[in-house]
Amino acid sequence: MNTATTSPALALDIRDASLELGDGDARVRALDSVWLQVEPGEFVAIVGPSGSGKSSLLAVAGALTHADSGTVRVHGTELGALSGNAAARFRRDTIGFVFQSGNLIPALTAADQLRLVGRLAGNRAVDPAPLLKAVGMSARADHRPGQLSGGERQRVGIARALVNAPTLLLGDEPTAALDRARSHEVVRVLAEQAHESNVAVVMVTHDHDVLEHCDRVLEMVDGRLSPAA
Ligand SMILES: Nc1ncnc2c1ncn2[C@@H]1O[C@H](COP(=O)(O)OP(=O)(O)O)[C@@H](O)[C@H]1O
Ligand SMILES: [Mg+2]
Repeated sequence: MNTATTSPALALDIRDASLELGDGDARVRALDSVWLQVEPGEFVAIVGPSGSGKSSLLAVAGALTHADSGTVRVHGTELGALSGNAAARFRRDTIGFVFQSGNLIPALTAADQLRLVGRLAGNRAVDPAPLLKAVGMSARADHRPGQLSGGERQRVGIARALVNAPTLLLGDEPTAALDRARSHEVVRVLAEQAHESNVAVVMVTHDHDVLEHCDRVLEMVDGRLSPAA
């Protein structure tokens, strides 16, 4: 049996994962025996204090770093078994990332941000229009980031994360720079992706106001993950 490809039904299957970071006295257990199973189409939120390991969890789930122990599978593929190049390819083809600020390229229009990501993945035929429509940004396709509000930039960031049709979308405090109304808008777009396009979404947030859009809320404390109280 090939242990690198089991339980493909789960979008994300983290079993007993631990991760230590730093050296010497500064060494911390960023992840402490974390278990997390996420189904396709499920929208999971993770809350918890700063420094509790939330970004580390997304880094492990997104094949940006390997856990020290335990297993992390995305659609059955064990990430710990992938080499650097294979991990980069898998990430590009399967996983989308949305960060705190849109991380857009200042000189490019919204449409060109999406085309560029497609070209980098060898996909020259990306049509930005339906993706921008999905995030309510059709009317801003030709605008550069400087001509967009924070919420609009974040929605372009989500559209860009969707260019290569990921089946796992990871968001690290995607609403941290937004006001209340924009935050709801952005999280609603993530919920739509989960519920209408069957994408598994894991979002780290400090923003308790937006949790109503999520299917499940977990809490991270000192590297340990548990159902939120
Ligand atoms: N590259 C690193 N080297 C050493 N320690 C780190 C590194 N990145 C994060 N840490 C530490 O690991 C812990 C978890 O960090 P992080 O996952 O960023 O938490 P959160 O996203 O919840 O704020 C913190 O104690 C942090 O200081
Ligand atoms: Mg963080």
